[in-house]
Amino acid sequence: MTFQFNEKNQLTVQKILAKYPRDRKKSAVMPLLDLAQRQNENWISKDVIACIAEILEMPEIKVYEVASFYTMYNLKPVGKYLLQFCKTTPCMLRGIDKIIEDCEKKFGIEMDATTLDQFFTLKEVECLGACVNAPVVQINDDLVEDLTSENFLQILDDLKAGKQFKVGSQTGRQCSEAEK
Ligand code: FES
Repeated sequence: MTFQFNEKNQLTVQKILAKYPRDRKKSAVMPLLDLAQRQNENWISKDVIACIAEILEMPEIKVYEVASFYTMYNLKPVGKYLLQFCKTTPCMLRGIDKIIEDCEKKFGIEMDATTLDQFFTLKEVECLGACVNAPVVQINDDLVEDLTSENFLQILDDLKAGKQFKVGSQTGRQCSEAEK
């Protein structure tokens, strides 16, 4: 086994385990997967699964079953920026397909692939919980909303240039107020 939680995260593991009865420590599988993924360049390797299975005293296949059920766990390496495109109805009605098409064209890759420079990974997901500001994409931990191809491709260019991007509505909408 090559993956081990680092010193700081070992303390966090203990804090997480303390939230559950000792004979129910398997319940900590999701927060431990999240913690491990953040330490392991945003993906869950076989070593990560083995490490968590050992800590929680559960079969590796059970840890894998959880990791493979939720789209928030990545089972293969991803780029520096993971772009998760919401494909549920409100985002589809508001134009996410066009944004995906333009993005794939820009990078010359398809969904579930990573750009050659390892900067961007494209992933399709279900509702991100911000439907009122559809269409929506999640960039690592942040949502960008009220997207058009134009404003989204500009965000990608800014990221490539090392600039920050604006989280939330890209049209200046406050929360979910009606569009003017
Ligand atoms: S449908 Fe896209 S955020 Fe809910």
